[in-house]
Amino acid sequence: PEAITIQELANRMAERAVDVIRMLMKQGAMHKITDVIDADTAQLIAEELGHTVKRVAASDVEEGLFDQVDDSSDTETRSPVVTVMGHVDHGKTSLLDALRHANVVSGEAGGITQHIGAYQVLSPESGKKITFIDTPGHAAFTAMRARGAKVTDIVVLVVAADDGVMPQTVEAINHAKAARVPIIVAINKIDKPDARPERVRTELLQHEVQVESFGGDVVDVEVSAKNKTNLDKLLEMIALQADILDLKTNSERPAEGTVIEAKLDRGRGPVATVLVQRGTLRVGDIIVAGAEMGRVRALISDQGETVQEAGPSVPVEVLGFNGPPEAGDRLAVVENEARARQVTSYRAHQKRENAAASISGMRGSLEQMMS
Ligand code: GTP
Ligand code: MG
Repeated sequence: PEAITIQELANRMAERAVDVIRMLMKQGAMHKITDVIDADTAQLIAEELGHTVKRVAASDVEEGLFDQVDDSSDTETRSPVVTVMGHVDHGKTSLLDALRHANVVSGEAGGITQHIGAYQVLSPESGKKITFIDTPGHAAFTAMRARGAKVTDIVVLVVAADDGVMPQTVEAINHAKAARVPIIVAINKIDKPDARPERVRTELLQHEVQVESFGGDVVDVEVSAKNKTNLDKLLEMIALQADILDLKTNSERPAEGTVIEAKLDRGRGPVATVLVQRGTLRVGDIIVAGAEMGRVRALISDQGETVQEAGPSVPVEVLGFNGPPEAGDRLAVVENEARARQVTSYRAHQKRENAAASISGMRGSLEQMMS
């Protein structure tokens, strides 16, 4: 149910909170300024104080921002978005680095001028691009999923051949399964003398990950990030899995995407790494993400180059937000600044209210504990 703090209600009416409290007292209820009251009571009070009330529902404000229902226009094939997961020290970062330096889209090995936490790699055989997301640790993955942000199409599960399935391997398997994302197993460190890839496959079986050689349908590739062994094969397997998933999109519409990470940069202001998922994001677009809005001032590619636009499955740094949004926030392009303000002020308000509600909830239980 909708609710509002007394302070917020007073602010919005430009009345004093003490008058609101007095009014509530007349109706027999004792309240503090931080208390949360329900929308019906708030409306009653507001009307008593001579205000006209217009209640805005979330559905009115959020309407039309994302039309996930209508995907009939999604007819173009898009690149898969891949997250690499696995146990500590099993070689996730090494593998990503090796893939990036071996097959950077531009072809200029080591030519990355800055790290934006997400980038595209070219699969050499098929010539198709694959988008890798570098940042999400397991916690971030869970948080994004909890917020309804689905960014990953495929999970590459890295398991060190000399160490086998470990607690965080199991955690990653569970995350992938809960999100219904297919897994490709990269059995890493195959160069090590004590590598036991067959043992890894057996251990995976105990966690219901059945590789092809065991009669299942999960693809596994033996790799060495250190020696760059079988990296092309891994990329091919990802491309193949992407073909099976038949990932579609529409680049001819206003952009929709998800914030992968965001920060406040000293020189450049708020900077958000955004994965565009549908449509095309362009310089000049008016954008909203979470409770932040802005106008795209510049877009910077994973190569560190300034670009004019970014299409589906393309990760890009976005400059021009008024403040940094949060990882997992969905980005949408809106018609004009008035619309952006409406959406973000509503969301900022919701955020404050949720915070206030949880604080007063906490106080309630504290008081109960004391009495
Ligand atoms: P966290 O981010 O801490 O979870 O670790 P990670 O999974 O990213 O592992 P990282 O890439 O940092 O590698 C851990 C260690 O394993 C490093 O010392 C790497 O040099 C080593 N390593 C990674 N891949 C290989 C490999 O293929 N062969 C060998 N021999 N060592 C590897
Ligand atoms: Mg790492």
